[in-house]
Amino acid sequence: MIKSADIEIKTRNQFDNWAHTYDGGIWNLYFETAIKHSLNIVELKKNSVILDLGCGTGELGLTAVQGNKIKKAVGIDFSFEMIKKASSKQRQNNIPLEKLEYIIGKANEIKFPDSYFDVVFCLNSFHHYLNPNNVISEIHRVLKNDGFFVLLDPFIDNYLRKGWGFFLKKIFKEEHVIYYTRESIKHMLEYKKFEVIKQQSFLYFTLFTVSQNVKK
Ligand SMILES: C[S@@+](CC[C@H](N)C(=O)[O-])C[C@H]1O[C@@H](n2cnc3c(N)ncnc32)[C@H](O)[C@@H]1O
Repeated sequence: MIKSADIEIKTRNQFDNWAHTYDGGIWNLYFETAIKHSLNIVELKKNSVILDLGCGTGELGLTAVQGNKIKKAVGIDFSFEMIKKASSKQRQNNIPLEKLEYIIGKANEIKFPDSYFDVVFCLNSFHHYLNPNNVISEIHRVLKNDGFFVLLDPFIDNYLRKGWGFFLKKIFKEEHVIYYTRESIKHMLEYKKFEVIKQQSFLYFTLFTVSQNVKK
């Protein structure tokens, strides 16, 4: 049996290698469209502080800050090379760290205080998490009261989508990843005290789930 520490190293290596060709690659047509859509799915305000978990090359934060939509964006990713790429884009665009910051870190240990963020995004990364419930708890912790969590990930609600998930596992050689159903994502979030506001499919094969942190 493969140990979770080995899976983590393998995943990190995979993304370290991909970081150099990630922007501009064929899959990026999908990633860029998803990012644009995500930034419009919840209302962002001038004073919003947002987190992009599993940020890859940092395109979501960069787009949000350049569009002057928000106060600050933070991107977290456990791939050193992805963060290196994201940070170099931040410097090339002369954006100060007070506005845009990329940090190496794991999704299940978000090194920020409680109630720090207004919105947390997690795009195309959740299926890699070996301990998804811990990650959801961490997101809940760092979100402000009434803050939003925007999750986008492939889902497997019918045979076609299951087939697509199977295809992705094969081509990316990532047998360990977990794709969920619409209902199981909703259940996981509600279990951790999120209120699911909406779930909508995106380009048929992925699912947006927008939930709100109602701490009470
Ligand atoms: C397919 S990329 C998506 C990047 C970006 N969100 C996008 O949509 O373009 C998945 C990212 O999740 C990161 N990742 C996977 N597991 C992680 C974990 N446990 N903690 C932090 N980052 C993780 C990977 O390093 C990779 O950069």
